[in-house]
Amino acid sequence: KRVAILLSGGGSNMVALAQSMTGDHPGRPVLVLSNDPDAGGLAKAQAMGIPTQAIDHKAFGKDRAAFDDALHSALIAAKPDIVCLAGFMRILGADFMAKWDRQMLNIHPSLLPKYKGLRTHARALEAGDKTHGCTVHEVTADLDDGPILGQAEIQIGPDDTAESLAARVLPFEHQLYPAVLRRYVTGDRTPVFLQQSS
Ligand code: GRF
Repeated sequence: KRVAILLSGGGSNMVALAQSMTGDHPGRPVLVLSNDPDAGGLAKAQAMGIPTQAIDHKAFGKDRAAFDDALHSALIAAKPDIVCLAGFMRILGADFMAKWDRQMLNIHPSLLPKYKGLRTHARALEAGDKTHGCTVHEVTADLDDGPILGQAEIQIGPDDTAESLAARVLPFEHQLYPAVLRRYVTGDRTPVFLQQSS
């Protein structure tokens, strides 16, 4: 299966996904694309020998549909079977999503449906939650809302800050996303659940 990965930043999730697709894994990374030409993840993908592309969303001004159309064209050219959003910070429009329905995954740093959107770690702390984590879901037109394919749960400690939580969740993202993709490429949507060893 041909897997495209979209990112906006450092790409640690892209690295984890790409590193998992070796040997008898039915997936292969065919493109890493960013909306930011300066995204650190592009250099990491190039170092791994994965084709890269950047579509600078700033070049489209307020015309979000034009950016989505350019992204769609780039994906059509790469012909992925699956698109993984990995630290991709653009909200994709409903028209675009309709073309990639049930072919697109995203990782979100909260235990969805809690804390859709941004500042997830700070919001979990502010709420006094005892647990936190990350979620992989199928992408739909509704932000951070599609069918859940996996979750990893950690305990929130008394001294945790938003920064320390983010730092403890990230390694679980790097475990969870490859585990979900491993199943998803075979059409298996059975959810994966990981838990921090107490
Ligand atoms: C991570 O915190 C992840 O939860 C979110 O994007 C952030 C950066 O991810 N989706 P990456 O290192 O660019 O993969």
